[in-house]
Amino acid sequence: MSCTAGKAKRLRDADANQTVADAVRPGKKETMVGSDFVAAEPIKWPVQCTIGRGLQDAIACETQIGFVNGARGILSYRGYDIFDLCAQSTFEEVSFLIINGYLPSADELKQYKETLASLRPLPRTLRALGALPIEKMTPMAALRVGIATLRQVVTDVDTQSPDPSHSIDTDADTVPDVTPDSNEDLEVDRAIPATTTLGRKDAYRLVAGMATIVAAIARLRKGLLPVEPRPDLSHAANLLYMITGTVPDEQQARIMDIALIVHGDHGMNASTFAAMVVASTLSDLYASVESGVGALSGPLHGGANEQVLYTLESIGSPERVKEWFKEARAKKKRIMGFGHRVYKTYDPRAKVLKPLAEIVTQNDPKLSTLFATAQALEHEVIEELGDTKNIFPNVDFYSGMIYKALGIEPAMFTPVFAVSRVAGWVARCLEYVKDNRIFRPRAMYTGETSRQYVPLERRGSTTKGA
Ligand SMILES: CC(C)(COP(=O)(O)OP(=O)(O)OC[C@H]1O[C@@H](n2cnc3c(N)ncnc32)[C@H](O)[C@@H]1OP(=O)(O)O)[C@@H](O)C(=O)NCCC(=O)NCCS
Repeated sequence: MSCTAGKAKRLRDADANQTVADAVRPGKKETMVGSDFVAAEPIKWPVQCTIGRGLQDAIACETQIGFVNGARGILSYRGYDIFDLCAQSTFEEVSFLIINGYLPSADELKQYKETLASLRPLPRTLRALGALPIEKMTPMAALRVGIATLRQVVTDVDTQSPDPSHSIDTDADTVPDVTPDSNEDLEVDRAIPATTTLGRKDAYRLVAGMATIVAAIARLRKGLLPVEPRPDLSHAANLLYMITGTVPDEQQARIMDIALIVHGDHGMNASTFAAMVVASTLSDLYASVESGVGALSGPLHGGANEQVLYTLESIGSPERVKEWFKEARAKKKRIMGFGHRVYKTYDPRAKVLKPLAEIVTQNDPKLSTLFATAQALEHEVIEELGDTKNIFPNVDFYSGMIYKALGIEPAMFTPVFAVSRVAGWVARCLEYVKDNRIFRPRAMYTGETSRQYVPLERRGSTTKGA
């Protein structure tokens, strides 16, 4: 898909001086039309498609969860445009939508919020985390441990207890109903052991628990005690409260809420795929989410938002951008926060986040310099790479400075991404295992064949391989 100079200019000039409400108003979206969607008819397998390295363009399954049009910059969850959801919805409503497929009624939303509130306190999991040298671990590694611990607390598999609810004491994480009943919405092979945790309740537990675990890691790594969640706060407000120890104001909570919404789901990205591969073995949802976290750790995926901040800080000011960019191009450096495998235009999530970044940074001189530097870098990148290579800002370009302005340190940016993306991971895993087929692509063997085995004493002393 080629891109015109006019388009690059329009994208660059958009989105200045907005309020939170303006910033996310639906009018900013590209209008979706029916033809933006893939055929509604079920696919007749096998399909023919051209597959590139890294499974590029491969179609691995059908989904009804999320839709991305990379050429036009459109993202929707369950058919609802991301701009509408950001303008009108909350992370609670959106995570319910992603997992269950429809917008909840008022009663359902109330019940879901109560469920999340009841699943947020994780005393045993946090106690176990507190016993570890969290300050010596990367936060994403600590998050994997936290999820594994949560799973263990929930299922107590190692004690061989037939009913997990019997093995939880009064001080336990809230797990009264992890029974086969709670998983009955799945029609997976019932030969799976009863302890298998691939149910909707586990999905909710992971959505609720991820925020508590991430916030606890943010504090433990600084030598601070975790803060208990408050049942009266929203998911976004709780996350900020549990990280910083201060209840955020309405605007801060709303901006965090929108940041959570835009990160909720995004097609078959690397971490979602990693989670689904694990789920397809009929392992459990906790192991699947742990794999998602592992994949999200890499700098080419979730880790980019942290790198963006370091880049902007090292550039220092908008005046230095031109020189920095020239040098970076000469060294063939990848500019973090730009480019996308799917979006060949401005990432709609970056469109939502950019004006929010401006709002949240405007009262702090250091942060507003960071924002101005980002704007200048965006200008340079789009000028040089927008039309020629379809490189535009992606979701990670403005998210980092929003998190920083909200009191979250850079090392926690990717874990905060996971707090939101867990909704997409669990939804897609549950959707996939309903009609499960284990993932098993092939590799093209290009190595040597028919080699003669040489005994050790006759191999000589030179080392040939690593
Ligand atoms: C996201 C990303 C991994 C997608 O990669 P991809 O679809 O495999 O794209 P490719 O690596 O094939 O890149 C295509 C071309 O664009 C260039 N390109 C891609 N991203 C670039 C970036 N951020 N800065 C500079 N050039 C970039 C590549 O150098 C390549 O140029 P070439 O054709 O001259 O070799 C890639 O854009 C990237 O590394 N971005 C920076 C990391 C980042 O922000 N990740 C968060 C993604 S949400």
